[in-house]
Amino acid sequence: MKLIDNPLNMLKIDWQPFASFAEDTARGAGQILMDHLGRLTHIRGKSGGNDLVTEADLSAEEFITRKIKLHFPEHSILSEENSSLQPDSEYCWVVDPLDGTTNFVHQYPEFAVSIGLQFHDHTVLGVVYNPAQRNCFTACLNQGAFLDGRPIRVSTTSVLAECLLLTGFPYRQDELWEANFELFKSFYRCSQGVRRLGAASLDLCYVASGRFDGFWEFHLKPWDICAGEFILREAGGKTSDWTGGILPFDGNRVLATNDPIHRQMINIINQPRFDLFKY
Ligand code: IPD
Ligand code: CA
Ligand code: CA
Repeated sequence: MKLIDNPLNMLKIDWQPFASFAEDTARGAGQILMDHLGRLTHIRGKSGGNDLVTEADLSAEEFITRKIKLHFPEHSILSEENSSLQPDSEYCWVVDPLDGTTNFVHQYPEFAVSIGLQFHDHTVLGVVYNPAQRNCFTACLNQGAFLDGRPIRVSTTSVLAECLLLTGFPYRQDELWEANFELFKSFYRCSQGVRRLGAASLDLCYVASGRFDGFWEFHLKPWDICAGEFILREAGGKTSDWTGGILPFDGNRVLATNDPIHRQMINIINQPRFDLFKY
């Protein structure tokens, strides 16, 4: 049964207790990941063989979903490995228990626990926690964004030629995957550089904190972006699809920037030679 029917009521709710719960939960899951780091015994490929899942993904997810079910039994959970959907719930936790599994497997300390909460399909809080670097990015509706409790803001760079960009590549290696290398070259030519770090949630937070100026990727999933794109918007950034339209929840074609360079990035993507991304 729906307790609150008007989505605008999200403005009246105090989300801070939910945010504290999410941060505690992300930190707990992060500890589980650290306990498994360098000690993995089960690594298997999912769809394409290079899309990995390990016992660390599953243990962290089990911990998170158990905590949510205990505290909020009526809430829905959309999580990468095992969801627990309740179609009538106004609340949905969107969880990636380990974003950056390939980095984790190789003990490269660029991975995170990502937890977002949606209320009537609007994200109201986000936590992205990197336990290896002990960096915790947080945001709560209309309260701004924070790194380890200190406010963060996007950069003010307004010229693409002065920007440092981020991207990622999906696991499926098709013609779009090939085309993204061409897009990578285009952006490399007209910026100060492009990096591929391997954890989309952190990529979004790095734009939020001004270390990078823009990020694009396609074929992401809701759990990759829910928390990070919210943190970025709370830090003053802009997110959209690749045409400048509203970013779809599914995570396909994500563009996330400091705002001033948003249109310049769209203009690069919208060159006729990248039309295949439109279909
Ligand atoms: C992946 C990471 C990566 C992105 C992939 C995602 P996973 O998530 O976010 O940066 O390029 O598309 O699937 O599989 O490590 O949770
Ligand atoms: Ca992910
Ligand atoms: Ca994952």
